[in-house]
Amino acid sequence: MRRNTCLVTVLFVLMSVLAYGVQVRDRDATWVAPSENALKVNPLATRTDAIAGGRKLFHQHCSTCHGEGARGSTKAPDLTQSDVQAQTDGALFWKISGGNSHQGMPAFSFLPGPQRWQLVLHVRAAASSPE
Ligand code: HEC
Repeated sequence: MRRNTCLVTVLFVLMSVLAYGVQVRDRDATWVAPSENALKVNPLATRTDAIAGGRKLFHQHCSTCHGEGARGSTKAPDLTQSDVQAQTDGALFWKISGGNSHQGMPAFSFLPGPQRWQLVLHVRAAASSPE
Protein backbone atom coordinates (compact mmCIF):
# COMPACT_ATOMS: atom_id res chain seq x y z
CA MET A 1 0.00 0.00 0.00
CA ARG A 2 2.75 2.41 0.96
CA ARG A 3 4.67 1.51 -2.15
CA ASN A 4 1.63 2.36 -4.26
CA THR A 5 1.26 5.77 -2.65
CA CYS A 6 4.90 6.42 -3.31
CA LEU A 7 4.50 5.40 -6.96
CA VAL A 8 1.46 7.62 -7.38
CA THR A 9 3.40 10.56 -5.91
CA VAL A 10 6.31 9.98 -8.26
CA LEU A 11 3.96 9.74 -11.25
CA PHE A 12 2.14 12.90 -10.20
CA VAL A 13 5.38 14.87 -9.88
CA LEU A 14 6.61 13.55 -13.22
CA MET A 15 3.37 14.51 -14.96
CA SER A 16 3.42 18.02 -13.48
CA VAL A 17 6.98 18.52 -14.66
CA LEU A 18 6.08 17.33 -18.16
CA ALA A 19 2.96 19.50 -18.28
CA TYR A 20 5.00 22.50 -17.19
CA GLY A 21 7.50 21.89 -19.93
CA VAL A 22 4.99 22.00 -22.74
CA GLN A 23 2.90 24.92 -21.56
CA VAL A 24 3.85 28.08 -23.37
CA ARG A 25 1.94 31.30 -22.99
CA ASP A 26 -0.13 32.42 -25.97
CA ARG A 27 0.72 35.64 -27.76
CA ASP A 28 -1.73 38.52 -27.98
CA ALA A 29 -2.63 38.91 -31.67
CA THR A 30 -4.34 42.26 -30.98
CA TRP A 31 -1.06 43.91 -29.93
CA VAL A 32 0.08 45.49 -33.20
CA ALA A 33 2.81 48.09 -33.81
CA PRO A 34 1.75 51.37 -35.48
CA SER A 35 2.79 51.33 -39.16
CA GLU A 36 5.27 54.22 -38.87
CA ASN A 37 7.18 52.24 -36.25
CA ALA A 38 6.83 48.96 -38.12
CA LEU A 39 8.50 50.57 -41.14
CA LYS A 40 11.69 51.45 -39.28
CA VAL A 41 14.69 49.63 -40.68
CA ASN A 42 17.12 47.82 -38.40
CA PRO A 43 20.38 49.80 -38.68
CA LEU A 44 22.27 46.63 -37.69
CA ALA A 45 20.51 44.40 -40.24
CA THR A 46 23.70 43.48 -42.06
CA ARG A 47 25.88 43.31 -38.94
CA THR A 48 26.01 39.58 -38.24
CA ASP A 49 28.74 40.36 -35.69
CA ALA A 50 26.11 42.10 -33.54
CA ILE A 51 24.09 38.90 -33.01
CA ALA A 52 26.36 37.58 -30.25
CA GLY A 53 25.81 40.75 -28.23
CA GLY A 54 22.06 40.32 -28.74
CA ARG A 55 22.25 36.79 -27.37
CA LYS A 56 24.02 38.06 -24.25
CA LEU A 57 21.45 40.83 -23.74
CA PHE A 58 18.62 38.35 -24.23
CA HIS A 59 20.15 36.10 -21.58
CA GLN A 60 20.40 39.07 -19.18
CA HIS A 61 16.98 40.61 -19.71
CA CYS A 62 14.60 38.24 -21.46
CA SER A 63 15.25 34.55 -20.95
CA THR A 64 13.66 34.40 -17.48
CA CYS A 65 10.31 34.82 -19.23
CA HIS A 66 10.89 33.85 -22.87
CA GLY A 67 13.27 30.95 -22.18
CA GLU A 68 16.91 30.54 -23.23
CA GLY A 69 16.15 29.75 -26.86
CA ALA A 70 13.29 32.31 -27.01
CA ARG A 71 10.88 29.35 -27.28
CA GLY A 72 8.60 30.68 -24.54
CA SER A 73 7.47 29.58 -21.10
CA THR A 74 4.35 29.79 -18.95
CA LYS A 75 5.28 33.46 -18.46
CA ALA A 76 5.83 34.60 -22.02
CA PRO A 77 5.17 33.53 -25.62
CA ASP A 78 7.48 31.70 -28.01
CA LEU A 79 9.27 34.36 -30.07
CA THR A 80 10.33 31.88 -32.74
CA GLN A 81 6.72 31.23 -33.86
CA SER A 82 5.77 32.37 -37.33
CA ASP A 83 3.28 35.06 -36.20
CA VAL A 84 6.08 36.81 -34.33
CA GLN A 85 8.68 36.31 -37.06
CA ALA A 86 6.26 37.63 -39.70
CA GLN A 87 6.44 41.07 -38.06
CA THR A 88 9.02 43.58 -39.26
CA ASP A 89 12.20 44.39 -37.31
CA GLY A 90 10.68 47.82 -36.63
CA ALA A 91 7.56 46.26 -35.11
CA LEU A 92 9.57 43.99 -32.81
CA PHE A 93 11.79 46.93 -31.83
CA TRP A 94 8.67 48.94 -30.96
CA LYS A 95 7.26 46.10 -28.83
CA ILE A 96 10.56 45.57 -27.00
CA SER A 97 10.91 49.33 -26.39
CA GLY A 98 7.42 50.06 -25.10
CA GLY A 99 6.41 46.68 -23.71
CA ASN A 100 2.83 45.74 -22.88
CA SER A 101 2.97 46.00 -19.12
CA HIS A 102 -0.68 45.05 -18.55
CA GLN A 103 0.09 41.71 -20.18
CA GLY A 104 3.40 41.21 -18.39
CA MET A 105 5.85 42.38 -21.06
CA PRO A 106 8.10 45.08 -19.53
CA ALA A 107 9.34 48.12 -21.48
CA PHE A 108 13.05 48.11 -22.37
CA SER A 109 13.35 51.73 -23.50
CA PHE A 110 16.02 52.13 -20.82
CA LEU A 111 18.38 50.09 -23.00
CA PRO A 112 20.23 52.11 -25.67
CA GLY A 113 18.61 51.85 -29.12
CA PRO A 114 21.44 49.81 -30.68
CA GLN A 115 21.06 47.21 -27.92
CA ARG A 116 17.33 46.90 -28.67
CA TRP A 117 18.11 46.40 -32.38
CA GLN A 118 20.65 43.74 -31.34
CA LEU A 119 17.89 41.99 -29.42
CA VAL A 120 15.79 41.98 -32.59
CA LEU A 121 18.72 40.35 -34.42
CA HIS A 122 18.86 37.69 -31.73
CA VAL A 123 15.11 37.01 -31.92
CA ARG A 124 15.57 36.39 -35.67
CA ALA A 125 18.64 34.20 -35.14
CA ALA A 126 16.87 32.13 -32.45
CA ALA A 127 14.13 31.23 -34.92
CA SER A 128 16.57 29.89 -37.47
CA SER A 129 18.64 27.86 -35.03
CA PRO A 130 17.56 24.38 -33.89
CA GLU A 131 16.10 24.16 -30.36
C1 HEC B 1 8.56 39.55 -17.08
C2 HEC B 1 8.49 38.68 -18.25
C3 HEC B 1 9.05 39.15 -19.56
C4 HEC B 1 10.33 39.60 -19.81
C5 HEC B 1 11.49 39.77 -18.83
C6 HEC B 1 10.38 39.87 -21.23
N1 HEC B 1 9.19 39.60 -21.82
FE1 HEC B 1 8.73 39.81 -23.81
N2 HEC B 1 6.82 39.30 -23.42
C7 HEC B 1 6.33 38.93 -22.19
C8 HEC B 1 4.90 38.68 -22.30
C9 HEC B 1 3.96 38.24 -21.19
C10 HEC B 1 4.57 38.94 -23.66
C11 HEC B 1 3.20 38.85 -24.30
C12 HEC B 1 2.55 40.20 -24.23
C13 HEC B 1 1.23 40.20 -24.91
O1 HEC B 1 0.82 39.17 -25.45
O2 HEC B 1 0.60 41.26 -24.93
C14 HEC B 1 5.81 39.31 -24.33
C15 HEC B 1 5.88 39.65 -25.67
C16 HEC B 1 7.05 39.94 -26.34
C17 HEC B 1 7.15 40.23 -27.76
C18 HEC B 1 5.99 40.33 -28.73
C19 HEC B 1 5.66 38.99 -29.34
C20 HEC B 1 4.44 39.08 -30.23
O3 HEC B 1 3.55 38.29 -30.03
O4 HEC B 1 4.40 39.92 -31.11
C21 HEC B 1 8.47 40.42 -28.04
C22 HEC B 1 9.08 40.72 -29.40
C23 HEC B 1 9.19 40.26 -26.80
N3 HEC B 1 8.30 39.99 -25.78
C24 HEC B 1 10.55 40.37 -26.67
C25 HEC B 1 11.21 40.45 -25.44
C26 HEC B 1 12.61 40.77 -25.30
C27 HEC B 1 13.58 41.00 -26.44
C28 HEC B 1 12.85 40.80 -23.95
C29 HEC B 1 14.15 41.19 -23.26
C30 HEC B 1 14.72 42.48 -23.60
C31 HEC B 1 11.62 40.46 -23.27
N4 HEC B 1 10.64 40.26 -24.21
C32 HEC B 1 11.51 40.32 -21.89
C33 HEC B 1 7.02 38.80 -21.00
C34 HEC B 1 8.34 39.16 -20.83
